Amino acid sequence: MVIQWFPGHMAKARREVTEKLKLVDVIFELVDARIPLSSSNPMLEEIIHQKKRVIILNKSDAADEKITAEWVAYFKEKGLLAVPVNAQQGKNLHAIERAAQELMAEKFARQKERGMRPRAIRAMILGIPNVGKSTLINRLVKKNIAKTGNKPGVTKAQQWIKVGKTLELLDTPGILWPKFEDQEVGFKLALTGAIKDDLLNMEEIALYGLHFLEKNYPNQLVGWLSIPDYADKTDTEILAAIATKHGYFDKYKEPDYSRAAEWVVREIRQQKIGRFSFDLPEKGEEI
Ligand code: G4P
Repeated sequence: MVIQWFPGHMAKARREVTEKLKLVDVIFELVDARIPLSSSNPMLEEIIHQKKRVIILNKSDAADEKITAEWVAYFKEKGLLAVPVNAQQGKNLHAIERAAQELMAEKFARQKERGMRPRAIRAMILGIPNVGKSTLINRLVKKNIAKTGNKPGVTKAQQWIKVGKTLELLDTPGILWPKFEDQEVGFKLALTGAIKDDLLNMEEIALYGLHFLEKNYPNQLVGWLSIPDYADKTDTEILAAIATKHGYFDKYKEPDYSRAAEWVVREIRQQKIGRFSFDLPEKGEEI
């Protein structure tokens, strides 16, 4: 799904999220575990105000496990709870309910003291397109959908999904826009498949990916490409070598750089080479 975000769309998305916020106790901010900052919304904190949030690092199966653990520690230091999950295969989803309980524990303890029985925690999923919101909801739905009619303050019936014993999740997620003004963020979104627009410059994205892997995952890169004297080659020579290896030539029998670039991006997106994280916690403050 490609959404072109214009100011009008952004205002509408924000309005819709603000409306739903009134219904919930907790926000589940869904991000891509490979790029937890680049796949977040630039105005999230402003939009959700003081609402409690759990950061769900989805697609953790595709991310570098060690870096994901570092991200969890990074967020913890900032007072935020982050849980890695794999929505596609339904891995670690129980951690979501547990995290919500942890966030609400104090409030519920106070209510208990006053003789009130804690009700189910209400939550909603928020995130940019393609981070796996629908996949996660579908995973959680199974037979758990609860038709609970109207909640105070809304005219439209909202469906709630019962998750475990203590959690109710709004069945439609809030969709927000990515940080598309930053070129590097754009490259990372493209390499992880969050943006699949044909208008993207594939050569720039492929070269960004190759440079990133050369710096951070050199062994996997060399093993994957197996191009002799990789380190001594220019960008053009590398794309030419890839094109030649795969038989990508234009009508003049010259190496087809575009197809070589598309191949690189496709291989990275499909995790053919390995599990990579493109946002690194030590660089977190810069993003
Ligand atoms: P959205 O609602 O946030 O827009 O995202 P959606 O659930 O549609 O998921 C986007 C893509 O991400 C889907 O791939 C989905 O299968 C994949 N995905 C979701 N969760 C996970 C996960 O935990 N791990 C991995 N590896 N992938 C996940 P798709 O529809 O097949 O699209 P494509 O990107 O493969 O073309």
